[in-house]
Amino acid sequence: MKISVIGSGYVGLSTATVLAELGNDVIGADIDKDKIEKLNNGIMPIFEPGLKELVERNIKEKRLRFTYDNKEAIQHAEIIFICVGTPPKATGETDLKYIEAVAKEIAETVGSYKVIVHKSTVPVETGEKVQKIIGENVKEGVDFDVVSNPEFLREGTAIKDTMEPDRIVIGADSEKAVEIMKKVYGPIKAPLIITDIRSAELIKHASNAFLATKISFINAVAQICELSGADVEKVAEGMGYDKRIMRAFLNAGIGYGGFCFPKDVQAFIKISEQYGYDFQLLKATHDINEQQKELFVQKVKNTLKDIGDKKIGILGLSFKPNTDDMRFAPSVYIIQELQKEGAKIKAYDPEAIERAKSILNDIEFCKDSYEVCEGADILLLLTEWNEFKELDIKKIKSLMKNPLIIDGRNIYNPEDMQKEGFSYISIGRKDVV
Ligand code: UDX
Repeated sequence: MKISVIGSGYVGLSTATVLAELGNDVIGADIDKDKIEKLNNGIMPIFEPGLKELVERNIKEKRLRFTYDNKEAIQHAEIIFICVGTPPKATGETDLKYIEAVAKEIAETVGSYKVIVHKSTVPVETGEKVQKIIGENVKEGVDFDVVSNPEFLREGTAIKDTMEPDRIVIGADSEKAVEIMKKVYGPIKAPLIITDIRSAELIKHASNAFLATKISFINAVAQICELSGADVEKVAEGMGYDKRIMRAFLNAGIGYGGFCFPKDVQAFIKISEQYGYDFQLLKATHDINEQQKELFVQKVKNTLKDIGDKKIGILGLSFKPNTDDMRFAPSVYIIQELQKEGAKIKAYDPEAIERAKSILNDIEFCKDSYEVCEGADILLLLTEWNEFKELDIKKIKSLMKNPLIIDGRNIYNPEDMQKEGFSYISIGRKDVV
């Protein structure tokens, strides 16, 4: 099938690449000319495992190409996926200006029937807005259908999640569009949820809000664990065996970050408000997440007493492992708060240093974890990259000024760290000092 994907960010790029891999004739579009030139030359704008190989293969086999000319992409396709950004406004509401602009451009360009699919996370009723914009601007007699097909991929596993999704949601009010979408996703084995457009849009918001709430719940439990002397890892394990609960997303830490959860939770609160519902549970989810970062900074302050003359080593900057994404990473707040107190920061991240450089100032970026440890008064672990789980703990101790670690992701065993002679503080577990 001839498919175009407008917007080549995480969602658009993964979608375009996977649809090409499934055998379709795909054009990926983006208004960022530099990004498109790089993509056509096999240079990826983001770090995402498996993406580069797949893009290169599909470009070589002529199933995939990229353009900065949206009109060219629109004319090419029978099915147009809209995957442009839906950033938050200052109020927390979703800014739909990019989606609206693309909808208008589609309307002005198309000359025959198209299925227009919106994949970005959007407020309920966006599908109707898109329908209205296209309906008002399209040439007379040209038919079209709008479909909501929300994307659930996670950064770091974007290709795998797109190839092997837990489910595919298709929200449409036309049989013809549903049949076309079924054909698109035919090669992918996953439960298909066919529904109306509004329910599809809500499935996405409700899913992200629920996952964020699960994280805030375990973070709140971690606080009780600290106050009562219990161990949150054991509590999560014990809860997780209950099939109604499951262990995933019960990792206590320094709070969720990234470009989805923080903005989607805020947006869902706003949407609820607009419908006249005060979503207090979600407000608490947000507040607990904010507190989690503040509590971590407080742990550092309580431990170091005078931060002003201290050298603080940071392991991990990205909002989670296997991505270079720094958007809404808890590390940013934590580092900036410590800098306000005069701390000298040394930091290392396997992938995110380049991006971190554009957000954070006055940091000594290091080539590896051991360089971070050299002369450090304290080590803070902020992202649970696998390589941090395999560090030579004895070497770390020999390099640091003080053997002191505050682990925001609970990746080490407290007893082991104590045996190695460390003072070790983590989240929702007893400190060993
Ligand atoms: C998320 C959703 O999972 C995905 O379905 C949606 O489409 C986009 O948003 P992503 O932002 O890539 O994906 O990251 P995810 O792996 O879900 O993690 C989000 C945040 O939660 C990270 O900051 C992570 O560190 C944090 N997290 C996750 C926890 O703190 N504890 C957990 O147990 C799980």
